Amino acid sequence: MKYLVTGAAGFIGSHLCNSLLARKNKVWGIDNFSKGSPERIRELEHYPDFSFIKGSVLNAEKLRPVIKEIDIIYHLAAVVGVKRYVENPAEVVEENVCQTLTILKLAQEYGKKVVFTSTSEVYGKSPEVPFKENGNRVYGPSETDRWCYAISKSAAEHLCVGYIRQGLPIVILRYFNVYGPHADSSDYGGVISRFIEQALSNNPLTVHGDGSQTRCFTHVEDMIRGTIEAGHREEAEEKIFNLGSTRETSILELAQIILEISGSKAGIVFQPYHEFYGPFYEDIPRRIPDLSAAKSILGYHPEITLEDGLRQTLAWYKGKSK
Ligand SMILES: NC(=O)c1ccc[n+]([C@@H]2O[C@H](COP(=O)([O-])OP(=O)(O)OC[C@H]3O[C@@H](n4cnc5c(N)ncnc54)[C@H](O)[C@@H]3O)[C@@H](O)[C@H]2O)c1
Repeated sequence: MKYLVTGAAGFIGSHLCNSLLARKNKVWGIDNFSKGSPERIRELEHYPDFSFIKGSVLNAEKLRPVIKEIDIIYHLAAVVGVKRYVENPAEVVEENVCQTLTILKLAQEYGKKVVFTSTSEVYGKSPEVPFKENGNRVYGPSETDRWCYAISKSAAEHLCVGYIRQGLPIVILRYFNVYGPHADSSDYGGVISRFIEQALSNNPLTVHGDGSQTRCFTHVEDMIRGTIEAGHREEAEEKIFNLGSTRETSILELAQIILEISGSKAGIVFQPYHEFYGPFYEDIPRRIPDLSAAKSILGYHPEITLEDGLRQTLAWYKGKSK
């Protein structure tokens, strides 16, 4: 089959391209390198069936000839990373909403299927855990910048639902905290890659707040399996799915596991949220997915345990730093 992957140079997009290409499909990737890495694209270019477009998803004219060709669009490009939400909320909302609108309009014009990657953040601080796809979304005030990402993805979901009503085949996936090789380990990346880099460089692992906040971490390979199924199964069309794992882990516990499996003596320090994120931040205490829809319709089951996934990811970061 033929696919377009937006955000192809990013963490999850590059894994998705790799899996689709390894299954002998033809893949076009687009990325503007606002965050993604040219090195990942160079690795993908070893596949003869990979073509890359350097540019923004907002440039519809660049995408038009590719969209005519392909069967499915996986739309992953977005402005991602909690620190970026508090640094430039206007960019987050504009990019995430306008990119999705551009993709949907082109998909409508050529009658193509879209898999849109949303996020567990859309549930906001809803206390209704585990989160069900038809559950409520609860946000704080507009002045609290941290909600801009959740709102941008929520707005993009509403656009998707609007186009579904007009007959376009769309699947919406809500990812829960993805980790694995190639994840960004800078201040803008996820907590696992940051902890691993700190453990390996013997710097104390920085826990924000008291570390009692929980997440359900999901290995990128599990996420890719679910994402590919979502594109292929007709019965998934017009639906929203949580994709993640149900193992609830506090951030403090995560730091302790990473210290243990890495053998690092770096230790743990606690940092108040406002020191890292500034005054316009609010954390989400618990985030757990209900996976029943993904299990029954996509046949999705996360297979990689947190410990195995962390060992594999740690080995990758060790190899990278040599
Ligand atoms: N990583 C996670 O834990 C997680 C959790 C929930 C949802 N998601 C969603 O999954 C998707 C992929 O996330 P990721 O972690 O790989 O992020 P990432 O930042 O690594 O990848 C996003 C990519 O999109 C590119 N991009 C941004 N704006 C663009 C534009 N206008 N045109 C072209 N490319 C553009 C960036 O350069 C980057 O390579 C995102 O939509 C994100 O919201 C990720």
